[in-house]
Amino acid sequence: MYSIDDPASAATIYSTQNVFPKSKWYFTFQQPDEPNIFSTNSNKYAAEMRKKYKPAYDAFHMYESSIDNCSNALVQKLSELSESGESIDIGWWVTCFAFDVNGEITVSYSSSRSLIQQLNEIQFSKRFGHLDNGEDIGGIVAALAERLDYVSHIGIYPFLHPILWKLIMALTFITNKVDSTYVFAEQQIADHQRRELEEGKSSESPDMLDRFMKAHRADPNHFTKNDVLIGGYTSIVAGADTTKYGLSAAIHYLHEYPETLRKLRSEIDELAAEGKISDPVTFEETKTMPYLNAIIKEALRMHSPTGFPLWRIVPESGATLCGHYFPAGTTVGVNTWVAHYSSAFNPDPDVFRPERWLEGSGEDLSMMNAAYMPFGMGPRNCQGQLIALMEMAKVIPQLLRRLDFEMSSEWETFNHWLVGHKGLNGKVRLRVRD
Ligand code: HEM
Repeated sequence: MYSIDDPASAATIYSTQNVFPKSKWYFTFQQPDEPNIFSTNSNKYAAEMRKKYKPAYDAFHMYESSIDNCSNALVQKLSELSESGESIDIGWWVTCFAFDVNGEITVSYSSSRSLIQQLNEIQFSKRFGHLDNGEDIGGIVAALAERLDYVSHIGIYPFLHPILWKLIMALTFITNKVDSTYVFAEQQIADHQRRELEEGKSSESPDMLDRFMKAHRADPNHFTKNDVLIGGYTSIVAGADTTKYGLSAAIHYLHEYPETLRKLRSEIDELAAEGKISDPVTFEETKTMPYLNAIIKEALRMHSPTGFPLWRIVPESGATLCGHYFPAGTTVGVNTWVAHYSSAFNPDPDVFRPERWLEGSGEDLSMMNAAYMPFGMGPRNCQGQLIALMEMAKVIPQLLRRLDFEMSSEWETFNHWLVGHKGLNGKVRLRVRD
């Protein structure tokens, strides 16, 4: 396996023309023999699946109100917790936010509540419910973390996966442990369908699953039931952890670099005073906030949520990368962390400096952009990137408008394919205006 540090090679490896398929490393993200859009090494199958899911992802702006609901709930929860004056695990509440957003946009309904409860709690009835009490609903956060530990180790020896999987399934009888991520998704989808049948559902703001179901009903042979399941499953497992780490990183770095926080707050306050942004800020309005966007870009550079090379297989043609010939079948990839701390960001790749994206021009900016790949590159890049960017752009201003954070210095990172963190802790106070 070759980890390659060279933007020109990245363009070749992730080209849309001579597509390098994903390596078998990704197989551990699927049940053996059940490829999904994320794990498959078939270029054809991946392209077909992406096409099927495209309308639901293209409708990203329809999910904006879901983000507002969860953002309000997060601010409210942190405001309540601020009353104790104690240090809290802010990272955990960001996790709850990210999972609830993904729940709401994907399947809309929580299985953790009874129907009566859900009907009584109109405002919050659509989330998984993590933000309500800070509980890991359905154990999905823990299950995903376990899955990432598994893939990051077994992915190196993918031939072990079918054997180990059988073993794990056999042990299920003893330990009562199953692939909870899959079960969780299946259960959420079944709940969604049952509610749809029992109550009907407003078509005002269809979630992703509504869209998948509609496509399935229109042409069940083309958009199969399994496609519906895979679409829901992938959105849940690919979208929440990644966004939580991006968002946590932004909060962390803003407080490590107080001048960036001050400048961002000025941008927010000035635009609000001039009546140019709403409360909550709309995604459209965030496009007029250059400093906010530079901060998000820089946070995803400094702390890219994926931490392993995005492995691909050199196709039949062979490939020349960094002046070396690699025969067909060789595993090659670019690690986003290597690319994001490369010489393209000289002289200060280790410094959180959002200004680099605003001041850079010409060749410098092109070099940075060529090396920048938090959402991957090419035909298998992130299908949910606009949803993730919308989440981050909308919630960060809301948090900073209402709250002050006094962060501890316990931030630590670890890599299990996604680069996680511990210790995003601190005291939260209702904001005192400058
Ligand atoms: C900051 C947040 C996010 C980051 C940094 C991120 C990053 C990535 C990356 C790097 C890939 C490509 C992996 C590879 O080439 O091996 C990817 C794929 C994918 N992501 Fe995201 N992602 C984020 C959020 C989301 C969200 C919110 C969703 C859905 C709601 C999503 C859905 C997907 C899907 C479906 C794929 C597979 C695409 C394919 O293989 O064709 N992601 N993501």
